[in-house]
Amino acid sequence: MDKKLPKFKGVISLPGDKSISHRSLIIGSQATGIVKVSNLLESADVFSTMNALRKFGVNIFKKGKDYYVYGLVVGGLKEYNGTLNCGNSGTTARLMMGLISTYPVKIKFTGDKSLSKRPMQRVINLLREFGANALPENKNTMPFTFLGSYVGLQNDQKLKVPSAQLKSAWCLAALNTKGISTLEEPFETRDHTEIMLKYLGANITVKKKKNKKIISIFGKHPMDAKDISVPGDISSAAFMMVLALISKNSKVTIKNVLLNPTRTGILDVFKKMRAKIKIKNKKIICGEIVGDLEVQSSNLKATTVTEKMAPRLIDEYPILFIAACFAKGTSNFKGIEELRVKESDRIKSMEDGLKPLGAKITSTKSSVKITGVQSFKLNKKIKIDAKGDHRIAMSFYVLSQVLNKSFKIKDFNYVKTSFPSFTKTINKLRQN
Ligand code: S3P
Repeated sequence: MDKKLPKFKGVISLPGDKSISHRSLIIGSQATGIVKVSNLLESADVFSTMNALRKFGVNIFKKGKDYYVYGLVVGGLKEYNGTLNCGNSGTTARLMMGLISTYPVKIKFTGDKSLSKRPMQRVINLLREFGANALPENKNTMPFTFLGSYVGLQNDQKLKVPSAQLKSAWCLAALNTKGISTLEEPFETRDHTEIMLKYLGANITVKKKKNKKIISIFGKHPMDAKDISVPGDISSAAFMMVLALISKNSKVTIKNVLLNPTRTGILDVFKKMRAKIKIKNKKIICGEIVGDLEVQSSNLKATTVTEKMAPRLIDEYPILFIAACFAKGTSNFKGIEELRVKESDRIKSMEDGLKPLGAKITSTKSSVKITGVQSFKLNKKIKIDAKGDHRIAMSFYVLSQVLNKSFKIKDFNYVKTSFPSFTKTINKLRQN
């Protein structure tokens, strides 16, 4: 063992889950009364959602450590016809489109370089059934002008892309539509929207049948204002888990992490890889399962991850690829085409960064194979391009920490979109 390599030890708590933070503001804005949100993720993406809601008259204040969302009741947004700049945040763009699709608004949607490349036709197609549209028609990427409908049209649809953002956009549109709308979801994607709607008393039913789920929403039903406590983000925790797993003599405990089964694919995969991870203190908070994770250095074994698993760990693949480089044997990741339309083409970004380091990685349009290596090529200056993608930047930063070699990571500042305290958290754990 190289004595110069650092170890990582300690107990940490992480900022609030990004998906639940967005939803606490958006869904909270539709409640009757004031929703107090604690442990909200204070990141650029969540601030994009906050700013977007403020344009529609939603008051959101911070007092102490908590945020207070002044709900305007279902259908109560104030009129706004202008621009919504969603920054780097696909969740802001897609969920806001859903929320405003049932109002007669004309909104120009814009975003940064990365967001302006991401597919939006998938959400517009779904919202067209409620009477919304976008101009110019059939333009897949922002900027475009989004046109809401005068009266939300009740509808029944089947989700065609395994995307919780699309499902949530549909739910938010149905929430303000008269009558019962239903959505069939033939895949399992994160269900925080359904859980939060239920928690706040929306008229929603979710029926599970074999491999599909039917969501029915009776719109225009009022929702209660209740306190929301946001659990630690499991997608951010994944970086800290890998840090401990692939470093020697390390042990990290992460308190209060979101353990919703639609998000714990990474734990199932790590278990198959023989990772030493213990789950403790499981409990339910605001309808979501939460617990502590105790993670120790492990001798990882390669694994195969199938397409069916993908939505349950969609954001964790970049850091999982780093873990696979340290595992014995060849890992196979199948059915991951969706990674090509995230904040960057994540298959390409990871391959471009890992190959020059001597990693054994190959890919097809929809799959990746990685064979673990004994050592990396670290003799010259290492430059990584994160391509405006926070998770690529964090993945390579974890690798650089474990190898004790500094990398120059272009676009590292994008880490602020989901985990502004990332480097501070690692510094707290690092022991030389
Ligand atoms: C999210 C859903 C996922 C995920 C994104 C957040 C959400 O996207 O990648 O970071 O909050 O609904 P898709 O649902 O489009 O896969």
